[in-house]
Amino acid sequence: MNGVNPAMQTHVLRVDPDQPAAEAIGRAAEVIRRGGLVAFPTETVYGLGADALNPDAVARIFSAKGRPAHDPLIVHVAEAADLSRVAREVPEMAQRLAAHFWPGPLTLVLPRADIVPLIVTAGGPTVAVRCPAHPVALALIRAAATPIAAPSANRFGEPSPTTAQHVLDDLAGRFDLLLDGGPTAVGVESTVLDLTRDPPTILRPGGVTREALEVELGRVATLEREAREAGALASPGLLDRHYAPRAELWLFTGPRERVLAAMRQYAREAAQVGRRVAALVADEDLAALADAPLTLQSVGPAADLALVARNLFAALRNLDMQGVDVILARDFGRRGLGLAVHDRLTRAAAGRVIKLT
Ligand code: TXA
Ligand code: MG
Repeated sequence: MNGVNPAMQTHVLRVDPDQPAAEAIGRAAEVIRRGGLVAFPTETVYGLGADALNPDAVARIFSAKGRPAHDPLIVHVAEAADLSRVAREVPEMAQRLAAHFWPGPLTLVLPRADIVPLIVTAGGPTVAVRCPAHPVALALIRAAATPIAAPSANRFGEPSPTTAQHVLDDLAGRFDLLLDGGPTAVGVESTVLDLTRDPPTILRPGGVTREALEVELGRVATLEREAREAGALASPGLLDRHYAPRAELWLFTGPRERVLAAMRQYAREAAQVGRRVAALVADEDLAALADAPLTLQSVGPAADLALVARNLFAALRNLDMQGVDVILARDFGRRGLGLAVHDRLTRAAAGRVIKLT
């Protein structure tokens, strides 16, 4: 592979997130053009990118991440006009959503155009496309002059990376170049919306809320957990045990007072058998848990869901680094960004959900 470091030593370039230097972007674009891998910031999480039209380059993404070949990748474009390059049909609804939400954390699933290699779509007939709202990502796609396939830049199954350090923690030495543009703003991944279904169906809740989509589309369906468990694997990324920290995570739902009481009780019992327990909660919960044998980790005031989403993955990684055995997480409801947070915590819990009433 000409020009790409054969030892896969990872180079890191700091870039201004708002006005990335042309030189750094040029170097990263060159890596992409030569079939290498570049990790870069988007507004949601860091992505691990390759030329979406080069199957060998895309194959490297799968091996770097340890990602199963049946899990398709999102194709990132620099503008809505590029939709028709990678999608065979672009319905009026897709144009409308792109005009309204792009650049932004909305991924549209559409029929795949022949130009997109099958490895990108995991052999499937559809392609997921999004235009990220980050100056670094947009500059990179433009300079590379090709759509960029990119999953989140984490090891398969780990929480997604919201800082350059998270990317290095997971994948150092497994790709060529990292553009460090600081922490990401949204913190949870894009909303994946399948436009090949009627009604349009949210396969993964994310940075664009269901409420915002409903304003544009009227009815929007969400995949119910039961349906997923019944077998239909519409979005393989919806597999359970995804986004999971190493610690065993328990999700507590229900009235706040009952949740906090249950956490205190659990912590006391766990401490007696020597387990290190952490609580992932909101600022206003800290005082009520202060006397329990718990490592406390707040993700912000519960009313500020944007902040909660932004802090979520870093909080999970932080608790893992502290080596706790168990994480007790509170729920933040399903309104607005709460739905994406609920979704990630539910999967991290892999069925360990305690419903209090
Ligand atoms: O915010 C994001 O979406 C980030 C940034 C880097 O853009 N990317 C990301 O990619 O989260 P990844 O690969 O970690 O998650 C993509 C999700 C997976 O759940 C995958 O199964 C689903 O999108 N997906 C991709 N192509 C699809 C398709 N054709 N049909 C259905 N689901 C698809
Ligand atoms: Mg991912």
